[in-house]
Amino acid sequence: MSGSLITFEGIEGSGKSTQINLLIKKLEKLDYEVLFTLEPGGTEIGNQIRKILLDPSYKKMDNRTEILLYAADRAQHVVEKIIPALKEGKIVISDRYIDSNIAYQGYGRGLEMSMVREINEWVIRGYWPDLTILLDLEVEEGLKRARDMTPDKNGDRLEREVIDFHQRVREAYLNMAAEEKRFRIIQAGRDSMEVHRDILKAIKEEIL
Ligand code: TMP
Repeated sequence: MSGSLITFEGIEGSGKSTQINLLIKKLEKLDYEVLFTLEPGGTEIGNQIRKILLDPSYKKMDNRTEILLYAADRAQHVVEKIIPALKEGKIVISDRYIDSNIAYQGYGRGLEMSMVREINEWVIRGYWPDLTILLDLEVEEGLKRARDMTPDKNGDRLEREVIDFHQRVREAYLNMAAEEKRFRIIQAGRDSMEVHRDILKAIKEEIL
């Protein structure tokens, strides 16, 4: 028995959480066994790593430290959560996965792409997503949404990055989606039920 891995990707404030919640409710209603998980922070160890990664006071974090922390989170996540759930035949829905690393650390930070890919391929052990939903949105709109959700309205460590950084991330996602068949690009700046219907359609076509 082998389940399916669906990942959600997108820039800050693209509405991943809202859409994942709607999708999980729908799939459970249809009697599918679903595991929701996320990166960074899908495991107990990962949750500690997440706190370090998103803390705005760590202004001195080096780009290589950053990628290795995300990779450490992912390594634990794959082994502890993703592989066992897939082996139990579940539909695994992950809020972010390997493509976040390629977009944010590879294109956003400008780290050497061959190294980013090598680290990630080592970490995911062949467990590529079966389907990746890319929620696409204007950067200005997403950032406003995301920053407004934090107590001081400035956002977490990553959300405080300059707009050019987030533009590079968005473009990276769109380029990856154009190159790889497992991606579906969904326009996110619309009514949430409309977005939900499009996501469900993609999942019915590719997974169910
Ligand atoms: P979240 O806001 O979706 O919870 O994600 C946390 C932040 O971490 C978000 O700004 C994207 C960033 N991120 C990376 O930079 N690289 C990664 O590999 C992952 C998983 C997330």
